[in-house]
Amino acid sequence: MGYISLKGIRKCFDDGREQERKVLDGLDFDIEQGDFVAVTGVSGTGKTTLLNILGTLLKPDEGTYIIGGTTVDYSDEAKLQQLRNREIGFMFQDYWLLPQLTAWQNILLPVLAQQKVISSSYTEWAQKLVELMDIHLVKDQKPHTLSGGEKSRTAMCRALIMRPSLLLADEPTGQLDNQHAQELGNLLQKVNQQLGTTIVMVTHSEKLALMANSIYKLENGRLNILNNQI
Ligand SMILES: Nc1ncnc2c1ncn2[C@@H]1O[C@H](COP(=O)(O)OP(=O)(O)OP(=O)(O)O)[C@@H](O)[C@H]1O
Ligand SMILES: [Mg+2]
Repeated sequence: MGYISLKGIRKCFDDGREQERKVLDGLDFDIEQGDFVAVTGVSGTGKTTLLNILGTLLKPDEGTYIIGGTTVDYSDEAKLQQLRNREIGFMFQDYWLLPQLTAWQNILLPVLAQQKVISSSYTEWAQKLVELMDIHLVKDQKPHTLSGGEKSRTAMCRALIMRPSLLLADEPTGQLDNQHAQELGNLLQKVNQQLGTTIVMVTHSEKLALMANSIYKLENGRLNILNNQI
């Protein structure tokens, strides 16, 4: 069995008019360790919902989620938090950087959920990450003074600070121009190849999707593989 296996996932939401909107409808998804997967699909098809399920932030109505050989147990919140913190890094659609903190402090924030004092092994790793992402010269600035590309790279450093084996990226280049989107794509490839991080990336960009190893399209609540043809 692969690293991640979603089987028969169903998720409905209340549409505000007392009707249920079926978003994921019997979805299966298998991902190998070290893979780099792109998920595309029109707006509102459930891509963010799928990432939230992969990140254990959302519980499916039906179906099973196995990660690293363990079936996710939604009844134990402490265990879920531990899994998230140890195994999963998130890059959200709108970055979610805290405005009152510097880029550097934002990057180290997940460490504080684990330990009261940040140990030097984490500050050394953070320093390596900011150099890898080329934001070492702006790391003491607050988010509102950073460019869009710098913000996205800060969010990527924060997502990687706990050395996750799985990186979930929701439209990581959504707010970037073509050139910066291409650069961020290159960085994601670097993270995948050099750190061995498994990546699931949601994107509307054809170009970016083609940088992944395989491309899926979310349609009618299920995933179809596109075999690198969009
Ligand atoms: N908490 C919620 N309550 C009710 N409806 C929701 C909730 N979250 C998502 N939805 C609905 O589920 C559907 C899928 O939403 P989702 O955010 O997963 O789409 P998406 O594919 O990420 O879209 P986009 O490309 O625009 O980001 C949408 O119709 C949305 O309105
Ligand atoms: Mg979305």
